[in-house]
Amino acid sequence: MIRGILSGKGGVGKTTVTVNLGLAMHKLGQEAVVIDGDLKNPNLGLHLGILKYNITLQEVIEKEISLLHALYIHETGLRFIPAHLSLNFLETDASKLKNCLREAPHYTLIDSPPGLSKESLCVLECCDEIFVVTEPYLSDVTDCLKTIELAKELKIEVGGIILNKVRNKNYELNKEEIESTLNTRIISVIPFDENVLRGLSLKNPVVNYKPLSEASISFFKLASRLSGKEFNVPKFLKLRRVLHLDKISEF
Ligand SMILES: Nc1ncnc2c1ncn2[C@@H]1O[C@H](COP(=O)(O)OP(=O)(O)OP(=O)(O)O)[C@@H](O)[C@H]1O
Ligand SMILES: [Mg+2]
Repeated sequence: MIRGILSGKGGVGKTTVTVNLGLAMHKLGQEAVVIDGDLKNPNLGLHLGILKYNITLQEVIEKEISLLHALYIHETGLRFIPAHLSLNFLETDASKLKNCLREAPHYTLIDSPPGLSKESLCVLECCDEIFVVTEPYLSDVTDCLKTIELAKELKIEVGGIILNKVRNKNYELNKEEIESTLNTRIISVIPFDENVLRGLSLKNPVVNYKPLSEASISFFKLASRLSGKEFNVPKFLKLRRVLHLDKISEF
């Protein structure tokens, strides 16, 4: 099953969600593969701290070789398929993606470019189910509408909204407003958490960098919901955060 992580707008957190959700699944014992479907501006590898590869998704598409040639294992054990940052691949034909992904393993998450570009439509077409990431602001939310409508027209399951970077301020839209605007349920609320930014600066995804942080707990809950693997929120979270008892083995 291929699950796509899409959005109406750029910068809302698709790549962050793809990487951390995949990694959270992996840490809960569900093998997952994350794929960089943003062929023009790929940065999934950046989030994982790896920039050099022998073979990437664009070469798989252009040379019509097996997807498995571009499968790598991150030091955390997460399996991923990167795309190349080079300008040489600007012309890669994203419409061939669907054919390439026939061999994608069962728990595959694919990161999409923002909005409804030709490239994001090619990602959408590959998916059995999509999740739409948004921030809690009117323009971000309304831009999700087209993505959701298009997915429904294409008979692609819309798994839900992932509401990201929530600060619980009164200028944000609330959950009910977002759900009624989009006529879709919110499946996960991820707080704005500076640990996400710190992790990114260290090229260490937050669920690995700070597994007990607020954002990480949301990612683990979502990973558990999507994979069926058990996750119990650890007790005394605030105390453990203060005492830096944040090793995964302490779960
Ligand atoms: N929950 C969060 N808390 C704080 N910062 C976040 C959170 N989620 C994402 N960010 C930050 O927001 C920025 C954009 O995130 P990301 O690159 O994942 O967005 P994107 O939707 O993939 O962007 P693009 O549309 O350009 O591909 C990054 O600096 C990331 O660290
Ligand atoms: Mg991105």
